[in-house]
Amino acid sequence: MITQAGLQNHTATDKAARSFLILAMSYLLFGLLLGVISGFQYLLPPFLKDQLSFQQTRPLHVYLVITWIFTAAQAGIYYYLPRISNRPLYWPAGAWLHFIMQLGVSVFIITCFFLGYFGGREYLEFPPLLGVFILLSWLPFVINFFFTLKSNYKTAPLYIWMWSTGILFFYITVAESYLWLFEHFRENIVRDITVQWKALGSMVGSWNMLVYGTGMYVMEKTSGDDKTARSPLAFFFYFLGLTNLMFNWGHHTYIVPAAPWVKTVAYVISMTELLILAHLIIQWKKTMQGAKKNYHLISYRLLSYADIWIILNLTLAIAISVPAWNYYTHGTHITVAHAMGATIGINTWLLMASVFYICKNEKAGLLEKRKPLIGKGIIITNISLLIFWIALLGMGLVKISSKLNNEVFALMMQKSKPWFQAFTYSGAVVLIGLFMLVYAAVKILSGSKTGDADKNQPGF
Ligand code: HEM
Repeated sequence: MITQAGLQNHTATDKAARSFLILAMSYLLFGLLLGVISGFQYLLPPFLKDQLSFQQTRPLHVYLVITWIFTAAQAGIYYYLPRISNRPLYWPAGAWLHFIMQLGVSVFIITCFFLGYFGGREYLEFPPLLGVFILLSWLPFVINFFFTLKSNYKTAPLYIWMWSTGILFFYITVAESYLWLFEHFRENIVRDITVQWKALGSMVGSWNMLVYGTGMYVMEKTSGDDKTARSPLAFFFYFLGLTNLMFNWGHHTYIVPAAPWVKTVAYVISMTELLILAHLIIQWKKTMQGAKKNYHLISYRLLSYADIWIILNLTLAIAISVPAWNYYTHGTHITVAHAMGATIGINTWLLMASVFYICKNEKAGLLEKRKPLIGKGIIITNISLLIFWIALLGMGLVKISSKLNNEVFALMMQKSKPWFQAFTYSGAVVLIGLFMLVYAAVKILSGSKTGDADKNQPGF
């Protein structure tokens, strides 16, 4: 139960959480803009070639949208921590220190990209030294997380386990992803690629833990069901997900001539995801009934759309984890469809559910006023995202068929053109749809009228 003192305590840190949210949404918009520019560079290769080439826009886009995911998850966690623990944030000034360090590191990284200083690897293409600063900037967050919660893991709900493992594996995987700096790894290409892709595959798992934990917390608060996050079945799927986080990277390295047992283990573990898929399909009817009943609740609506995207992406992920199919799909846009389908359809929707949950708690009246705009933004983004995703799959299939028919590159490009167009134009509409949501959220969070939502209710 949240006491009056508890309420006053957390309002002091809510400001930091709101600032993190605004920062996160700025990364998103900036990242989307660069994504759309890189999309247009597919269609018109000379577009901005001299000022901002695809070699710059792509890593900038990827860095910004991934940072959106991490920062929005952290913003939510800052907001939820005092409410879950019913005590003030352990180190409020630390939250601001984190904010300043995070902003500083990002400005530095973005400047490096604009000036053409690279030196890092896929997803972390900025100069490697900056990786150390990213890890340092997370420290106040880690301290606040563990010292505010002081959690008893025997009784803790699943989202606390997910956040804790997400943080732990973030540190492990970022450290691993820089092992290539040591000669022992760099001198052997098989070892180098295997370790690199293992680290990145698991790093995605680490942010998924942070985001899924956030989604689960919002679901608990929106539906009022506090049993699911403590049920044995949910823990079973958590441990299955954790095993996948640690070992499911194998499909990234099927083409590398590493030890065969590594691939077999990875393949078998990938296929355990079929259990998750089956569970989701069995749950489907219940999810849809809940969605219909609670469609008026923006967060619930977003969580339901995330469920649809989980099913679509998990089916694709399982398909491309089958070695015989992976052989063809590897290096095509089918992999990009898998990456963007998951980071937009699942991660971004879950995080937006958290953003609007916070908006509701902060300013329920203003949220109500902006609901039509938000509803339109959600529909526009979902429809355009579906076209975007199908276009990426289409580009991948054209490449596979051209390879099988030994077609020349020019013919493949000609056949891909309609898919490129569908991808770029629908991508621009995704930007418009998400802009509507960000605009509404920023207006609500910065508006002066306070909401009367659940602020006075225990437990919100
Ligand atoms: C929240 C929104 C978005 C997220 C989270 C996101 C995420 C990503 C990620 C993770 C990748 C790397 C894919 C890989 O390594 O295979 C990527 C690449 C890319 N994205 Fe996005 N994206 C978003 C929106 C967009 C939009 C709206 C466009 C517009 C067309 C776009 C265009 C691109 C392009 C052109 C690439 C490079 C693909 C390549 O390597 O050929 N993205 N994005």
